[in-house]
Amino acid sequence: RRKLILDLDTGIDDAMAIAYALGSVDEADLIGITATYGNVAVPLAARNALAVLHLFGRDDVPVYPGVDHPIAPAELPGAGPTTVQWRAAAYGDWRAGGRGSWPVDAMWVPSPGSVAVHHPNGVGGAVIPDSPRAPEAPGSAVGFIIDAAREYGPDLTIVPTGAMTTMATVFRDAPDLMDSGVNVTLMGGALTLPGNVSPAAEANISQDPEAADWLFRCGARTTMIGLDVTHQTALTREKAHEWASLGTPAGDFLVAMTDYYIDFYLKNQPEIHGCGLHDPLAVAAALDPGLVTTFGFNLQVDLEGAFRGRTIGDRSRLQDADKHTQVALGVDVPRFLDRFMTRVTNAASA
Ligand code: BDR
Ligand code: CA
Repeated sequence: RRKLILDLDTGIDDAMAIAYALGSVDEADLIGITATYGNVAVPLAARNALAVLHLFGRDDVPVYPGVDHPIAPAELPGAGPTTVQWRAAAYGDWRAGGRGSWPVDAMWVPSPGSVAVHHPNGVGGAVIPDSPRAPEAPGSAVGFIIDAAREYGPDLTIVPTGAMTTMATVFRDAPDLMDSGVNVTLMGGALTLPGNVSPAAEANISQDPEAADWLFRCGARTTMIGLDVTHQTALTREKAHEWASLGTPAGDFLVAMTDYYIDFYLKNQPEIHGCGLHDPLAVAAALDPGLVTTFGFNLQVDLEGAFRGRTIGDRSRLQDADKHTQVALGVDVPRFLDRFMTRVTNAASA
């Protein structure tokens, strides 16, 4: 069984990713969840992860809060001398209402767009009780991931599905991990399609483009499961309602949460005929890379202007034989959907 860490901004599809991991009993040993930001701020991401684990009867999995705001570019070796003022101006460009007054050290708060997609409580308004457990110490995620990566090396897979700040910080603080064989399979970016928070940017990359750019260029080995691939995987309402017959609190939670998500998709992206299974696909591909076809790229993230947040080939490394990121190009949709239903149902049955 692979050691698995999920780095989540829980989040509707993040919660489904937890269920997928818990249902993958033969493949995954979930040793911890780290909380990042994006759909919700870090404290709510940690709260939701703990609450979902409690609902699914897994109070043994610890939850570590991660970095709660974007990295100041000056903190990343080799990153450009972007100023806080410039960043604020760029955010103002592509978010209605602007975020020009966002101070770089303050805790990140979700944009109105994220709140609309995932509901202010992050899980589609579905009500789940608090866990009796508290999260680990604030900011403990980076140390937890570094220690686990040093202990398990190639037997560890990390799946980041929110802002990439914690992951970038891990490799910044422990560059030895780049050669450790640790696997990072992230949900974020898009190779072909337009983004979902701006014409160019996907949400997870857009939360902290500098961190994502650094993660792609620092030397770490990554696999990118982008929006153009996750959008091929749709969960229909009919399928989601199968969980109602389980008669368990976890099954009822999944139905309520996905109802909200599917409503949002039907209103905004009716061509998908359901909701995208972004984060569960990243977990599925991390556990079974054969589910997706990939191609090796060296990526960077555009940091300026209208294309800020776009994942794109790094021109300075185009000719390099060594490619650092395996980018998903396609997915075996029927096989994935079948596995998704089986594993999530398995987790929610108890
Ligand atoms: C990604 O952004 C978040 O809203 C989702 O949880 C997913 O990780 C999709 O762009
Ligand atoms: Ca997410």
